[in-house]
Amino acid sequence: MSDVYEKVIDLAKRRGFIWPTSECYGAVAGFIDYGPLGAMMKRRVENIWRDFYVIGEGYYEIECPTIAEEAVFVASGHLKGFADKMCQCPHCKEYLRADHVAEGGGVRGAPTMKNEELTAAIASCRCLACGKVLGKIEVFNFNLMFRTSIGPGSQRTGYLRPETAQGMFVDFSRLLRFYRDHLPFGAVQIGKSYRNEISPRQGMIRLREFTQAEAEIFVHPDEKAHPNFARYAQYTMPLLTGIQQQKNEPAVPFTMRDAVDKGLIANEYVAYYLALTHEMLLKIGIRPGRLRFRQHLPDELAHYAADCWDAEVHSDRFGWVETVGIADRTDYDLKAHAVHSGTPMTVFIQYDQPRKVQRRRIIPNMSVLGKQYRTKAKAIFEALGTAEPAAGGADIVVEGEHIHIPADLFEVRDEIIEIRGDEVIPHVIEPSYGIDRMCYAVLEQAYDEDIAEGETRTVLRLTPCVAPVQVAVFPLMNRDALDTIAQEITRSLQKKGVLAEYDDSGAIGRRYRRQDEIGTPFAITIDYQTKEDNTVTVRDRDSMKQVRIAIDQVPELISTLIDGTTQFSSL
Ligand code: ATP
Ligand code: GLY
Repeated sequence: MSDVYEKVIDLAKRRGFIWPTSECYGAVAGFIDYGPLGAMMKRRVENIWRDFYVIGEGYYEIECPTIAEEAVFVASGHLKGFADKMCQCPHCKEYLRADHVAEGGGVRGAPTMKNEELTAAIASCRCLACGKVLGKIEVFNFNLMFRTSIGPGSQRTGYLRPETAQGMFVDFSRLLRFYRDHLPFGAVQIGKSYRNEISPRQGMIRLREFTQAEAEIFVHPDEKAHPNFARYAQYTMPLLTGIQQQKNEPAVPFTMRDAVDKGLIANEYVAYYLALTHEMLLKIGIRPGRLRFRQHLPDELAHYAADCWDAEVHSDRFGWVETVGIADRTDYDLKAHAVHSGTPMTVFIQYDQPRKVQRRRIIPNMSVLGKQYRTKAKAIFEALGTAEPAAGGADIVVEGEHIHIPADLFEVRDEIIEIRGDEVIPHVIEPSYGIDRMCYAVLEQAYDEDIAEGETRTVLRLTPCVAPVQVAVFPLMNRDALDTIAQEITRSLQKKGVLAEYDDSGAIGRRYRRQDEIGTPFAITIDYQTKEDNTVTVRDRDSMKQVRIAIDQVPELISTLIDGTTQFSSL
């Protein structure tokens, strides 16, 4: 089908899924509003995510502010390094992402090129806005964080968070206590993130304010075997490994066990969340043939990552789109926050049995040290406690000053001590989902047209668990008590937690079409036979087939059709 993107966006605007924000003022690129149906669909996608991570994995959800002070992003590295490469068209003055310009001109490897390389690469490329050849123009870094000031008089600089993850890192000590000082544990967050994208012209794919659903799983650095790996060990899915990309080969299916054993995926944790992500994306309605997992090439990895895979969904308009990123972030973030904040971010791991170790300790001669070094004596005493003694003395650093303490100012004692465990800095495994990209993929893949009663029918084939309206209830006529019965059925469905829409206006065929277009999977019709035998028809959106069932079975049947435990074809 051609023009799918235009058709999906037209439908989304017309029927209340998404539309441009503050349209009456001309809208702002990179921001959208979710309308009544879109907001409901988005909640359903988020709740499926919660089913997997909060209920399934047992990782509790937290909620942190979307603004954090500068120190957080100095430590995380975002202030220095969270930048895209930008250039400006000399003809129309539009700011452009230099790597996107290069890719648009057929240049390979653009995302990992340095500024000078991009300058050379884009000289013969065309502007993505006006289409003219750019020529030799400068490429420079543009930090994507939105800056703000906290409190009046710009006392403190703050930034809108570019990822939800940092909230979980700075809360590490409290989370550790919550999970009773044991690894592994995880915390998750669903919320807004902000990036001042240079040239957002891809609708829901590239927003300046978007929703992320992220899990940060804190694991022992030397124990990356997932305790429940068996669940996904034989799970098979297409992987586009680094090696295949270098050879220009397509994705190949692997079991997770095989991929870890062959060293293609760094560890069981990463593999487990790749498989879980695959399962979840299928559940919300992504077709397996339009989903692949691509490994980051070494020079593409984020500053914090040891291994990273993108779940990419194929879009008619945009090609393969990163929708989820799954990374082993190592101890990068916790180490950085410990150094910058002065708060230790370690876990005490107790040995099964205490261990005896030999230790060489320096015992300073305090009376001599005190006289000789006076005000610095205390700091010197402390520094000697962890210093290595050599033949001529010990070298220490106190307040940035290198000091040599001669051997006659201390005694060296060898002692056997008992230690109960180690302090370790956990590593972090992070699956990071872009909810807006997931919602767009769901809409695009659900969009379809077929023929019903000799006319083209537009139908959103949404899987029932994400459809905003779950069932429509139609009285055939708006009289003869058919409407009263239909309202009672609607009420019984609502009481069961089902979003049921009552509609009695227009011809029945028109009513079906309206619901098909917004993806309502089932419709119940109350007709004259209902009054005779207390039965109604249930219509399936996709096959347009109908079955008759007793009124008192309606709430239970519709609930199970929505959660997938009953299939319409089995009725
Ligand atoms: P891209 O390369 O497309 O800019 P990214 O590599 O910067 O994406 P990540 O930093 O890994 O993306 O962010 C994690 C997830 O957040 C992405 O997989 C994506 O789904 C989502 N995301 C990131 N940036 C945006 C955006 N501007 N608009 C919508 N979703 C986004
Ligand atoms: N937390 C991963 C990212 O947003 O890049």
